Order: sequence, then C-alpha cells, then structure tokens
Amino acid sequence: MGLRDGLQNELRTLPTDDKVRLLDALLAAGEKRVELTSFVSPKWIPQLADAGEMVKRVGPRPGLVRSALVPNLKGLERAQEAGLEEVAVFLSASESHSRKNINKTVAEALETSGEVAREAACRGLRVRGYLSTVWGCPFEGAVAVEQVVEICRQMVDFGLYQLSLGDTIGVGNPGQTARILDAVLAAIPVEKAALHFHDTRGTALANALVGLGYGVTTFDASIGGLGGCPYAPGAAGNLATEDLVFMLHGLGIQTGIDLDKLVEAGELAQELMGRRLSGKYLQAALGEKEKAQQRLRRAQEEEGKA
Ligand code: HMG
Ligand code: MG
Repeated sequence: MGLRDGLQNELRTLPTDDKVRLLDALLAAGEKRVELTSFVSPKWIPQLADAGEMVKRVGPRPGLVRSALVPNLKGLERAQEAGLEEVAVFLSASESHSRKNINKTVAEALETSGEVAREAACRGLRVRGYLSTVWGCPFEGAVAVEQVVEICRQMVDFGLYQLSLGDTIGVGNPGQTARILDAVLAAIPVEKAALHFHDTRGTALANALVGLGYGVTTFDASIGGLGGCPYAPGAAGNLATEDLVFMLHGLGIQTGIDLDKLVEAGELAQELMGRRLSGKYLQAALGEKEKAQQRLRRAQEEEGKA
C-alpha cells in the first residue's frame, strides 16, 4: 500500500521518478502485489495526480500484479488506458465517511462500484474491493456489524476476487476483530477476504494475528507504515510491511520477502519523505545499523591513533 495509501496522505508530493525508485526497492525485496496509485480526482488527491504516468513508467513486469483504486467509470478508463491488470473499487460502511471520501451515499457508492467492477471484469481486469470504516467511523463512531455484513455480501456479488476489510482509522482491537470476522466470514468465503489495518493505536499487528487465526492470508501493509486516509482525520498509516513480515517469518510462514531488503526500501522511503517513519522493525533495524557504524568509526579512530 506504500505507494497509494502511503502517499495519498503525505504533505510532500513525491515526483514520479522517486515513486518508481521506491517501487524498485520494494520489488528488489520480493514484493509481488503492489497498489501503485489511484485514478481518483487529482483535485481530491493531488499527491497521486501522476497516476497514468506512474503506471506507464513502471510498465508490466513478469510476476508482478499492479493495482490501483478507481472510484468511477472515468477512473476505470484512465486505469485501463495506462495498462493496469488490476483495479480496486472502494466504499465505506458508514454514511459520513462515504460522503466525505467520495461525495456519495453508501447506496450510491454500491451502485457505482458495482457498475465499475462489472465493467472492469468484462474488460478482462482483475477486480479487488475495499470496504472502509468497518471497525469504526471517524465521524459516527461505532458501525453496526450487520450493516458491514450486508455490504460485504453485495460487494462480493460484484464478482470481486477479493474484498479487503478496512480499519480505516485504526480503532480496532483483537476482540472486536474476532467478532467482526465471526459475522463477516459467515457471509463471505474466507478465501475472498483480506484485511487492511491502519496502526493509529498500535493494534494493527495484533488484529492481523487474529485474522491469521481465522484463515485470512492476505494483509495490506505499507513500507515503514506510511500512509492514512485524507478523509479520515487523524488516521495513521497502514500496518508496516516489515512488522508484518517479521511476525510472519517468526511464525514459520513464508512470504517470499527479504526482510533486510525491505529495510533498505524503508530507509529509502524515509529519505524520500524527509521524515522518520513509524515502522517498529524498521527503526530497530536502522538503530542497529547506526550502532554498528559508530563501532566501526570508533575502531578506525583507535587504529589511526595507534
Ligand atoms: P466529485 O467532485 O463528486 O465528482 O468527486 P464528479 O463526478 O462530480 O466530477 C467532478 C470533476 O472531477 C469533473 O471534472 C470530473 O471529470 C472529475 P471537471 O468537469 O470539474 O473538470 N473526475 C475525475 N477526474 C479524474 N479521475 C476520476 C474522476 N472522477 C471525476 N476518476 C470523486 C467524486 C469520487 C471523483 C472524488 O470524490 C474522489 O476522487 N475521491 C477519492 C478520495 C480518495 O481517494 N480517498 C482515499 C482513498 S480511500 C482509502 O484510503 C481507504 C482505503 O485505504 C481502505 C481503508 O483504509 O479503509 C482504500
Ligand atoms: Mg487505508
């Protein structure tokens, strides 16, 4: 999610060249599925106004699935013209977030997303979906799980290959995650479910572990924990990819990702954004690196004196 969710809420807009550099670092670490950008209104999300150019610059790469958000048919046209193989439709489980985020009611968003998803599938694209504010809404607070389940049913009927459930503002806790998954996974197949946690309150990794226990195997994450939703005030970035990968490897689960190279990508992301990122594993690894460099410098100074 780093290049999309990660960049959409940053004050600094990265030049396309830097986005491609970051993508190359992620691919060098072994990432195989990347959300590159969003074909939304450039007035709403100026940080991703270069969507078409970005996709064209990256081009198709063997073994890589490139995805992007599309809010409407215009977005789909732009995504297809740029040459993407996957698009993602998105809507919210709460009315206020839906209006703030896409200027539509939930019912209108269901209609538009359904139309876009069906049209994309007809054109031979893979279609993913997101449902936001499942764990809570920044404007309304709690969101009824019955409402979530009903929307999930309708979204899966669009023919999505996967539906990602979003804790948009990072308010979820593991007990709530279990309750939500009990209800949602009774209505949609677990093979179609993905989880998208923001780490605003430090619970994203614990929530992912609960999801893993339910048999979910796709988790959205962003390098260094970059990101947030500009229409969800105060929301922090996604679960950091390195934190997730560290946990999964510790559990003996293969990801195909090289954690050291992921740290290199995280270091680059920090340099490009000009700020310290929140990923815990990244900071620990960079701290170790700094200490090792200090030790080396001291040893060289001692040698020079001797
Ligand atoms: P609107 O203003 O209601 O749109 O915005 P409109 O249909 O009335 O059109 C207004 C203008 O926008 C027109 O141009 C359109 O052509 C243009 P004008 O005639 O004024 O020159 N327009 C577009 N331009 C480029 N690409 C398009 C497009 N569509 C219309 N696709 C709209 C409605 C949906 C476009 C707008 O609200 C929007 O772009 N919203 C996106 C907001 C967004 O990206 N939010 C963050 C992503 S969601 C998220 O982060 C959550 C997630 O991570 C999961 C989680 O965390 O839970 C996925
Ligand atoms: Mg998000």
